Amino acid sequence: MRVAMIGTGYVGLVSGACFSEFGHHVVCVDKDASKIEALKAGKIPIFEPGLDEVVAANVKAGRLSFTTDLKSAVPEADAVFIAVGTPSRRGDGHADLAYMFGAAKEIAEALVGYTVVVNKSTVPVGTGQKVEDTIRSVRPDADFDVASNPEFLREGSAIEDFRHPDRIVCGTTSERAANVLRELYRPLFLNETPIVFTSRESSELIKYAGNAFLATKIMFINEMADICERVGANVQDVARGIGLDGRIGKKFLNAGPGYGGSCFPKDTLALLRTAEEVNAPTAIVAAVVQANDRRKIAMAEKIDAAFGGVKGKRIAVLGLTFKPNTDDMRDAPSLVIVPWLKEHGADIHAYDPEGKKEAEKLLDVTHCPDAYTALNGADGVVILTEWNEFRALDLVKTKKLLKRPLMVDLRNIYRPQLMADAGYTYVSVGRATVKPK
Ligand SMILES: NC(=O)c1ccc[n+]([C@@H]2O[C@H](COP(=O)([O-])OP(=O)(O)OC[C@H]3O[C@@H](n4cnc5c(N)ncnc54)[C@H](O)[C@@H]3O)[C@@H](O)[C@H]2O)c1
Repeated sequence: MRVAMIGTGYVGLVSGACFSEFGHHVVCVDKDASKIEALKAGKIPIFEPGLDEVVAANVKAGRLSFTTDLKSAVPEADAVFIAVGTPSRRGDGHADLAYMFGAAKEIAEALVGYTVVVNKSTVPVGTGQKVEDTIRSVRPDADFDVASNPEFLREGSAIEDFRHPDRIVCGTTSERAANVLRELYRPLFLNETPIVFTSRESSELIKYAGNAFLATKIMFINEMADICERVGANVQDVARGIGLDGRIGKKFLNAGPGYGGSCFPKDTLALLRTAEEVNAPTAIVAAVVQANDRRKIAMAEKIDAAFGGVKGKRIAVLGLTFKPNTDDMRDAPSLVIVPWLKEHGADIHAYDPEGKKEAEKLLDVTHCPDAYTALNGADGVVILTEWNEFRALDLVKTKKLLKRPLMVDLRNIYRPQLMADAGYTYVSVGRATVKPK
């Protein structure tokens, strides 16, 4: 099949590359000429493990190409995917659909022959219908269907997630469109990946409901962590104890500084707005959003307390991205916590393995080339993102570099006993603080 992927960001580039790996011919389109130039030169504009190899192999095989010219990519395509950004609209939290409708109009002008326009971006319920109306108004003669096919990949493991998804969701009532989607995903059918065919509206809501549920799970265990700290319980034991219950499940039960990233914050907000609009308010999601906002400030205050006040202290911050294995800084907890610490008088020396380029634009701190440079001369260290390289710090060297052996670990990546034995004051989340022996 021939695919045009409109939007070559985290989702569009991974999906496009993986569809080409399935054997389809894919043209990835983006308005951002620098991104397309980089890709044409064999450079990957984002950090995503394994993506460079998939892109290189499929470009070489002649199945994957890049262009800024949407009009040349669409006419040939059996399926045109829309994978543009749908950020929060400033001020009200609605999903901003300007890129979506902009792309729909351009696609409409270029359609030739029967085409399925597949919406991969996360969009509020009813957007598929509006995209259909938009295309129809521009090209009343066009032969097309608009389907919804939300994407569930996670940054950091996106390739693996696309190749082995838990499920694929396709929202369409058109048999012709369903057949195109079946053919596109055929390699996954063969792997017995469950495919949920449903209405466009249900498909659109599945994406929001899924993200809101996961955000709820995260904030639930964070609240349990707060209780643990007050009563002397251990949140990791509590998470394991409840997670082994098949009805609950083990995943997304890691206590920490709250959720961030390019999806959960904006998607929970957009779901709230949809719920209000249709007069079916969701008290649970509203509470989760509020709790998450409070969480980041509470974590900054926790750091402040651990340092006995951060004023005048030099703090080594390890990890700035919203999670490991990505360079994505969108809505990262660091963007709230680090400015709070600075406003309260701390001098921040930060290191992130892949986030530096983005973080430099967003955070006015001293960006260090490695963890040990950040640690050198600091009054203590704060772990904000659980990159693997922070799991195995040389604790003897770290202790020598720090002015005081103090670690605040907001990701619980060390064992308290080990840290006490190594001579640290160690503050973590939902577990008792330990002091050197
Ligand atoms: N990032 C994730 O982990 C993830 C996971 C699942 C779903 N999603 C959803 O997928 C969508 C895309 O997210 P993303 O993270 O890939 O965004 P992104 O910002 O990384 O990429 C979007 C790209 O679309 C391009 N673009 C915008 N309008 C265009 C147009 N008219 N023609 C061509 N290109 C255009 C932009 O230049 C940009 O490169 C969002 O709705 C998001 O919520 C994201």
